[in-house]
Amino acid sequence: MSDHRVLVLHGPNLNLLGNREKEIYGHLTLDEINKLLQQEAKRLGFVLDCFQSNNEGDLIDYIHAAPKKYSGIIINPAAFTHYSIALRDALAAVKLPVVEVHLTNIYAREEFRRYSVIASVVQGQISGFGPLSYILGLRALFDIVERNVRD
Ligand code: DQA
Repeated sequence: MSDHRVLVLHGPNLNLLGNREKEIYGHLTLDEINKLLQQEAKRLGFVLDCFQSNNEGDLIDYIHAAPKKYSGIIINPAAFTHYSIALRDALAAVKLPVVEVHLTNIYAREEFRRYSVIASVVQGQISGFGPLSYILGLRALFDIVERNVRD
């Protein structure tokens, strides 16, 4: 078991998963996705904290506080992806590896979803695999964090 802790941040409306536009976002609830993430984290030897907010400022506060406690961040910024310069600046300000994830393929959807203001300040983005996007994001973050430890 490594002593790494990872923060998972879920943005606005993701608390409605399981009810919200199921044909687009699938039938799993956020709790179910968090459980899958916890299982994968356990397998990798990580401790995971998951947090969802509909408020930009709350997410920013979590990002500011993250370096004291966490080795990296997985974030689904939801609609903030497309316009929150404040969230982008917060992620750019903290010196932690960040992986951006999306349930849907944002590049195959409406025009306004095809641009992420977040993408240029994160290590990488995983988009379009449903809940698996989060799991793949966690595996990528694990690799980055462990590599940093080895290097
Ligand atoms: C999302 C895609 C965003 O465009 C949307 O606003 C969301 C969810 C995704 O996970 O596919 O709320 O981030």
